[in-house]
Amino acid sequence: MNNQPVLFLDSGIGGLPYCRHFYMHNPAETLVYVADRASFPYGPREQGELTGLLITLMKRLVRIFNPKVVVLACNTATVSALAALRKAFPGLPMVGTVPAIKPAVLESRQQRAGVLGTERTINDPYTMNLAARYRPDCTVTGIAAPDLVEFVEHRYALADEVERRRVVVPYIEGFRAAGVDTVVLGCTHFLFLLKEFQWAAAPDIGIYDSIAGVSHRVEALLDRGEQTLRTNRRCGEAHLLVVTGASPLELSWQSWADAFDLPLRRLEDLEHDAEVLPGRIHQ
Ligand code: DGL
Repeated sequence: MNNQPVLFLDSGIGGLPYCRHFYMHNPAETLVYVADRASFPYGPREQGELTGLLITLMKRLVRIFNPKVVVLACNTATVSALAALRKAFPGLPMVGTVPAIKPAVLESRQQRAGVLGTERTINDPYTMNLAARYRPDCTVTGIAAPDLVEFVEHRYALADEVERRRVVVPYIEGFRAAGVDTVVLGCTHFLFLLKEFQWAAAPDIGIYDSIAGVSHRVEALLDRGEQTLRTNRRCGEAHLLVVTGASPLELSWQSWADAFDLPLRRLEDLEHDAEVLPGRIHQ
């Protein structure tokens, strides 16, 4: 038994739907969701720089939360730095999020799949190698959509349905023009626009994501081995939405905390409190 939290990490709000999905199926677990506002966005960063940032951040998070499992709820962080993070934290089980390319290439009738992600994810050979591994005869079109990441992080909550549909249409049209019939949402932020993508893609293009796959992977890790890592609590305690960065939190963070029913804290404040009151956060 292990009552330490499961920690989800993304550059911003993108991983929140992943965190919620996991919670719906595992309500006894305690969850800490970390939005790395200080380094948002990850997509335009070089691999070496992003890896360094993530290792430094993970050291802080491990010190304060001592998680039993870390979920990189971010494709960009996963393709760039998961291997280096596993090496740097050998005793800490980690689950990554990679674009759901396998079902998309296998189920493409035209042998043409599309991946929508950040610049980093689309340009990383890992992403295209995945496609070749599962179906070499399938052509994969990758499109980077940094503006969609910005839209979800900073504009989505204020936008109406018409505006949300308007931002996804050019991407789906781009894939349609390339003859693509399956599209992978390869950035966790895009899950916020799932309904709009499905609307724009119907009826000829299927939309794929990794949300259920990531949840199952975390569950498998908790159940692996002789000693379960599952909690013995009846319901999760002290869930948190934690935001990095020294500046005061923008008002939108409180709205996200309310929407996902998570108490909101800045990482800097938690670290400060933990120094004053050792053991308060670290269970
Ligand atoms: N949500 C992230 C992903 O899945 C990255 C967004 C960003 O910070 O650029 O790739």
